[in-house]
Amino acid sequence: MANAKITGVGRYIPEKVLDNAYFESIVDTNDEWITRRTGIKERHVSAPDEYTTDMATKAAERAIKDAGITAEDLDLIILGSVTPDYFTPAGACVVQANLGAVNAAAFDFNSACTGFITGLTIAKQFIENGTYKNILVICADVLSKATDYADRSTCILFGDAAGAAVVSASEETGIITTEIGADGTGALALTQLAYRDDEEELEKRVSKNKETIWMAGQAVMKFAVKAMADASQKVLDNAGLTYDDIALVIPHQANYRIVDAAIKRMGITQDKVFLNLEKFGNTSASCIPSSLSQAVEQGRVKNGDKIILVGFGGGLTWGAALLEW
Ligand code: ACO
Repeated sequence: MANAKITGVGRYIPEKVLDNAYFESIVDTNDEWITRRTGIKERHVSAPDEYTTDMATKAAERAIKDAGITAEDLDLIILGSVTPDYFTPAGACVVQANLGAVNAAAFDFNSACTGFITGLTIAKQFIENGTYKNILVICADVLSKATDYADRSTCILFGDAAGAAVVSASEETGIITTEIGADGTGALALTQLAYRDDEEELEKRVSKNKETIWMAGQAVMKFAVKAMADASQKVLDNAGLTYDDIALVIPHQANYRIVDAAIKRMGITQDKVFLNLEKFGNTSASCIPSSLSQAVEQGRVKNGDKIILVGFGGGLTWGAALLEW
């Protein structure tokens, strides 16, 4: 049986930056509150005519180059996003055409911010059962286009980004184990409506625009801390390892307080944790792959290192992956 291994990573971060001073000018907030409650100072946002598939394509091109393959070598492209260009076609099909990945099947999936872990889990199955050799997992979101900029409790959190990884069949150890889970009883803690007409949901939104994200912040925060710590422990237990074996943990970058509480629960120190939320905010499922790409570039992940990727998000969903680099 072949192992599934990440052989290339890439990210795309849009140019425009919104700092905390910008939010002081549009809602009743201030830099001190945002910094103390979230740790976020800046986020990057897409141009008005820049969409999920545009950013996904750029991140994908970089991951393919990093893996040393061509687009034609890809057997499958999967894209996780909560801000698709279209309901149909799937964004993965648009990216397939942009890349010229003529041999690749393509589909989208949605597990919100947990997307990259879900994507790795899907890729691992197809590689290990021998169906495919090279799979492109992309997560991309333009949360800025779904943000309620009249709601001070959410608008300060979100940014845009794309992150991608090539997962290939390998003789070397790669994705050792993954763990994903969901609790649909918490589904309405974080919503963004499509066709469903729902007066109650509309009323919750400051803008009264059902396409914007609404979130019960406190409830999501409480869920997130336990979900991340438990999922991490689960992948360690599956592999018979402890945090002493782990070189780096890359968590979903939603809020510094969530990450801090989760790592305390894990019993690890901050030097083992990759943090970049100060500069990018919460970029949904792209957080983890774009952070991974940065961590590799900065030399914080080296050959042979064991690392944990761990996230949570709308659904409510959670997941963790234990990798050997
Ligand atoms: N500036 C100033 N005051 C604010 C702001 C702001 N930007 N936002 C909220 N407040 C106020 C509230 O109105 C409230 O005031 P009140 O006490 O007078 O009612 C007070 O601050 C405290 O509000 P809380 O909601 O209790 O603040 P909390 O400490 O929970 O922080 C936050 C809010 C940052 C949203 C936090 O709950 C959080 O990060 N939650 C998790 C978000 C998350 O990670 N989501 C992930 C999934 S996203 C996805 O999947 C796309």
